[in-house]
This record gives sequence, structure tokens and C-alpha cells, in this order.
Amino acid sequence: MADNGSGSKKPATQVVTGGRRKIWTGAVVNPPVWRGSTHLYDDVAHLRDGLKSNDDGRFFYGRRGSPTQWSLAEALTEMEPGAAGTMLYPSGVAAISCSLLAVLQPGDEILLTDSSYDPSRSFADAFLKRMGITARYYDPMIGADITDLFGPDTKAILMESPGSLTFEVQDVPAICKAARAAGIVTLLDNTWATSRFFPALEHGVDIAITAATKYIVGHSDVMMGAVTTHSKYWTRLRRTAQQLGQVVSPDDAYLAARGLRTLDVRLRQHEASALKIAHWLKDRPEVGLVLHPALPDCPGHEIWKRDFSGASGLFSFELSDGDDRSRAAFIDALSLFGIGYSWGGFESLALPVDPAKHRTATEWAGKGPLVRLNIGLEDPDDLIADLAKAFEHYHGAKP
Ligand SMILES: Cc1ncc(COP(=O)(O)O)c(C=O)c1O
Repeated sequence: MADNGSGSKKPATQVVTGGRRKIWTGAVVNPPVWRGSTHLYDDVAHLRDGLKSNDDGRFFYGRRGSPTQWSLAEALTEMEPGAAGTMLYPSGVAAISCSLLAVLQPGDEILLTDSSYDPSRSFADAFLKRMGITARYYDPMIGADITDLFGPDTKAILMESPGSLTFEVQDVPAICKAARAAGIVTLLDNTWATSRFFPALEHGVDIAITAATKYIVGHSDVMMGAVTTHSKYWTRLRRTAQQLGQVVSPDDAYLAARGLRTLDVRLRQHEASALKIAHWLKDRPEVGLVLHPALPDCPGHEIWKRDFSGASGLFSFELSDGDDRSRAAFIDALSLFGIGYSWGGFESLALPVDPAKHRTATEWAGKGPLVRLNIGLEDPDDLIADLAKAFEHYHGAKP
């Protein structure tokens, strides 16, 4: 969508008003669910007219969406100053893989952060490899020195900042500056911060990817991905998504748009609660490092302070003298934290994570087993009481 109406609205206002064009909402507040595969034309001339533009906002055929999807895409575009448009995908992984397919071709090389989400790695190591594309990994703390890795075939860099298990905050502006000078396209998995806390394009990123499944949807009931980019890559991104048949259902788009309206207030609460809990954990004798970008233990904390306007609710901490068994006892003893994948929803989650097995360019130097927490919207004091109780079980199971 060419119209980026970011204007001067503050983020909390943007998420409330974004994409709510009168022509899409009609007389109600939320753009209704427009279900449809076939779109009907008045006559043959009208049908032929439909072929003249590939923009959102024109009825064509169900795979190109309807006002429900267009409205959500436009709202996400408005959150990224400088963006030309947003494509929606049926999952965050689809958003990552389709973005990479849009910019790479056989013979190319891609650099990925060693802290990448595991399915991003496996897409690069297996699928892209099969296409004759080489993947190399870099230290997430590399910054401007990434130029040392550039070769004649390096065409793209996939960043993730912070990493979703170990939370290193990358110097995204420095990496993007170096890449741009070398004609290399930059992609960022921006799921943790969202455009709310880190408007990626403003920081030099070419292609901003969000697993909307997490904070955008916010209610753990929809899978979705979104990719926002500026005009240079917009046509390519859109064409590739269409060639790969990417479409999200209007029901899912409706729920994601509904989630988006409360993103600002939810993120601020996730931030406050997660910080309170992270500080509390930091003072516990059982805890080693607390890997939360807003705490000094976290690699890249200074970069987070410089570049981000907030922190979301996902972080990890190390059990300083535990093992896998005592970590399991700790997690199993929690009652307010669910055990499960994903994050960004209103409910808290705890997960054992083992980053060492996903590293190739760097060694994970952690001293104890890691637990990742998704801090939801429960009262943080209740969550702290739950964690305190679980530490008793942890002591009982310690080696
Ligand atoms: C950092 C990150 N990126 C992308 C994804 C993929 O999103 P989805 O589960 O919607 O495919 C996830 C999912 O956990 C993630 O943690």
C-alpha cells in the first residue's frame, strides 16, 4: 500500500486509528470480516480494469485479500515511518522464508546472526542450501566489523535483535550502514520489540519482519507473520508472496487487528511486569545471569538503551548451580506459568532453553541451565510468589 500515513501521530494513537478507513469500516468501528474467494465484477470491462493495479484496496480475488486484511496491513505500515507497505503471511516462519526468497538467488550468500531463531537457521541451512545459497553465521555482537565477513556473493543479512533465547542486542544501525555501503540487503526479525519499541526502517533496516503471532495478536490464538519494507523492495516482496500463494484468512486478520488496538498498553504492562520480575530474579541466590536487554548483564544492553524506546516481556535467566533435572523441577512447580512454545500473549509461560546446540559461529558460554520467561499480564506480585515457591522445589531437586 503506497500511502504511509504515519504522520505525526504518537504510537498509542497510531495503533488505535491505523487502517480504519471509513470505506473499510462502514458504520462500525472495526473493519468487519469480509470472507470471500470470488470477488464479483459488474461486467467484463470492470474485470479487465481489475488487472491494471496490484495494490491493496482493490477487489480482485480472495488471495489478494479484502478490506479486513488491507486494513491490518495498512495499520502495520503506519507504524514504520518510511515504509511502502506490509505483506501478511500465515505464520512468522512464512514471513521469514518468503522475505529471504524475495531477495536471494542461486549463488548468493546470506549472513545470519548466530542467535537466530532455530527455524530461520534450518530454512537457511536446508532449504536455501538446496537452492545453491550459502549461509554463514556471525557473532551477534559483531557490529560494524561485519564488513570483514562480506564477500563478493554476500547479498543479504538476517538479524534478530535481541535474540529470542539469549537476548544479545545487536548494533543494527552499524550493521545496516555497512551493508548499505556494500549493496547488501538487511532483514531484521523484529518480533521482540515490534515497530512500537524499535521502528526498524528508521534504524536503517530494509525489510522488517514480525511474527505477529506474538505481540501483535497478543492473545495466543492466531498464527501470523508480517513484513514491512520501503519502496526499493516492496514490489519484489509483494510479487514473491503472491507467487508463493501467501494469504491470511480474514478471521485471523480481524483478530490480529483487534489485538493491535491494545498493543501499546499491553506492551507497556509487559515491560513493567517483566522488569520487576527480572530485578527480583537478579537478587535471588539461585540465579546467575539475567538476560534482559534492559539489565546490564545482557550483552548489548548499552545498544538497547541507545536504540530502543522500551522492552517487551520476554527474557531468560540462568540457574547458577542447577542442572537439567532441577530446572525441570523448577518449571514443573510453577502454577501461573504455562509450559509451551511461543510468547507475546497475555499469559505467562516458562520454557527450558538450550542455546549451545544452536550455535556455530560463537560458543554459548552460559554457566547454568537457562529458563525463558514470557511475562504476561497477570499481577507481577503473583508471578513472583509463584517463582519463589518453585525455587523451593528447585532446591529439593538440585544435584
Ligand atoms: C523470534 C521469532 N521469530 C519468528 C518466530 C516464528 O513465528 P511463528 O511461530 O508465527 O511462525 C518465532 C516463534 O516463536 C520467534 O520466536
